[in-house]
Amino acid sequence: METNKTMHQTLLILHSINRWLVLASLFYAIGIALSGLRSGRAFSGADNTVRHVTATISHIQLLLGLSLYMISPVVKFDVAETIGTGLVSEHTFFRLIHIAFMAIAVVVITIGSARAKRVGSEKEKFRTMFVWFGVALLIILAAVPWPFSPLANRPYFRSF
Ligand code: HEM
Repeated sequence: METNKTMHQTLLILHSINRWLVLASLFYAIGIALSGLRSGRAFSGADNTVRHVTATISHIQLLLGLSLYMISPVVKFDVAETIGTGLVSEHTFFRLIHIAFMAIAVVVITIGSARAKRVGSEKEKFRTMFVWFGVALLIILAAVPWPFSPLANRPYFRSF
């Protein structure tokens, strides 16, 4: 029981910290894509690394999220539907809304990354990265339990 609690807290801290890497990498990649589109320069090896690292960070967040999902007390079926200050209960938010939105966002990032890798022209690479990563970022921003979110609220930085 104690081990489960420690594991839950560890995963929660990692998932909470990695959210900032997910967001920072997406903002950075989108910025690179926009500047590449505007300048008309070639899609360099460094741009390709940014594309790849951004997708990998989101995959790590997905794995952390899935692990949390399996042990989180807030997702368990016997949790009261009434807990939570948002429009929906914390249970509904984390069991359905958060996982659905975030899983879709990670799929969008993965497809965008794969397409950007394969499309022919340099401009198309930047455009693909900009559009797909941009859509994923919007979905993620909507489904993070920000302290000000109308759905569910968690701190910016977690410390137990
Ligand atoms: C990909 C982008 C994702 C971001 C940015 C993100 C962000 C967050 C944040 C900020 C929290 C609150 C952490 C805290 O309480 O300190 C959270 C909680 C949670 N996330 Fe995610 N998440 C993502 C994906 C996922 C996915 C794909 C899943 C499930 C498969 C997931 C499952 C959970 C669960 C279950 C909790 C609540 C854990 C608990 O309180 O016990 N997350 N997420």
